[in-house]
Amino acid sequence: MSTLAGKHIVLGLSGGIAAFKSAELCRALVKAGVTVQVVMTEAAEHFMTAVTLQALSGRPVYTSQWDPREANNMAHINLSREADAIVVAPASADFMAKLLHGGADELLSLMCLARPIDKVPLIVAPAMNREMWANPATQRNVAQLKADGIHVLDVGQGDQACGETGDGRMLEAEEILDDLEAFFSPKVLAGKSVLVTAGPTYEAIDPVRGITNLSSGKMGFAIARAARMAGADVTLIAGPVSLETPRGVKRVNVRSAHDMLQAVQAHVPDQGVFVATAAVADWRPANSADQKIKKDGSGQTPQLSFVENPDILATVAQSAAAQTGALFCVGFAAESHDLLAHATAKRLRKGVPLLVGNIGPATFGQDDNALLLVDASGARELPYASKQALAVQLIDDIAARLTR
Ligand code: CTP
Repeated sequence: MSTLAGKHIVLGLSGGIAAFKSAELCRALVKAGVTVQVVMTEAAEHFMTAVTLQALSGRPVYTSQWDPREANNMAHINLSREADAIVVAPASADFMAKLLHGGADELLSLMCLARPIDKVPLIVAPAMNREMWANPATQRNVAQLKADGIHVLDVGQGDQACGETGDGRMLEAEEILDDLEAFFSPKVLAGKSVLVTAGPTYEAIDPVRGITNLSSGKMGFAIARAARMAGADVTLIAGPVSLETPRGVKRVNVRSAHDMLQAVQAHVPDQGVFVATAAVADWRPANSADQKIKKDGSGQTPQLSFVENPDILATVAQSAAAQTGALFCVGFAAESHDLLAHATAKRLRKGVPLLVGNIGPATFGQDDNALLLVDASGARELPYASKQALAVQLIDDIAARLTR
């Protein structure tokens, strides 16, 4: 379940062409279980109608501080007191300048000024032309807004509605949703660095063929995302998968087990947690041909021989950092049967404090899974759920172990 479920968010729109993305954001928030109260400035109404946002939020939209629907005629007080957060998206350059100076000449800025700052966080998603964004006045305002405790989200980069290209676009609705989810997630891994391996590896036979496995990388990517939501600095070493990089996560792409080992060794110093979810190929062809192996017409098949790949997890688990407890190592076990027995044996063989078992054939490529957490004192099941939900539970479990 999203950390946003059950929250009440006031979604403010100031004037900007990015307002079309706010419709998408409103819909996504409602889908995540949020009640959304939309407030629009007069400028915003030039870009998007209140009717659209009323239909998407399922609530009447407020556009004026003189709204007679409020019995006490204090919409700015009533609306801000109910909110878990006020999110202004788009936040125009002018609106941010107004916030900075405590301007309050229309409902949205008035409400932002009147909010109890200790209880109702204000989050703004800037949106403007690249020159406006780069202007020292805007940058000064952004720095001051942050210093005042306002959460200023990043801007996107790329083609702008004005035809120019650069920084200043408003983030996409999905990105804002992700940042809001991160905002409301308990920061159980604040200040920690987490390294995650994910996906399969690919071992080349020749330049056009190789051996790999059915791992989709979804569990590892979900863990990287959950760790970032929990406040960690996350590096994800990914085998060949076509998944999007979770927001805020550093990604290193690799192909073979050897590449993965090198990347892990380059990044593991200074990490506090290592989670090995990758389905590393156990063997690789002893010789990888430089050129494509051709049929010679005789009907003979190539004779492949294999050598064992390095065990990345076991190698890291034997390092001084892991042995002294400075690095907490978590292994995974993809089994087809006798999960508890195999996971228990594998934990000891790999030399890790925590090993997470799952049934590989049942979960590869799926969005759901069930996990068995095996440690020195026994086993605990995380029942069938989405990989995202399981990842959050696993990260909570790891965080609790770090403080023991
Ligand atoms: N692992 C690894 N390097 C390898 C093989 C596995 O780092 N060469 C890690 C995986 O990322 C996982 C754990 O070790 O965290 C167990 O992987 P798994 O494939 O289930 O086990 P294997 O070690 O391959 O053992 P077996 O094939 O006997 O099940």
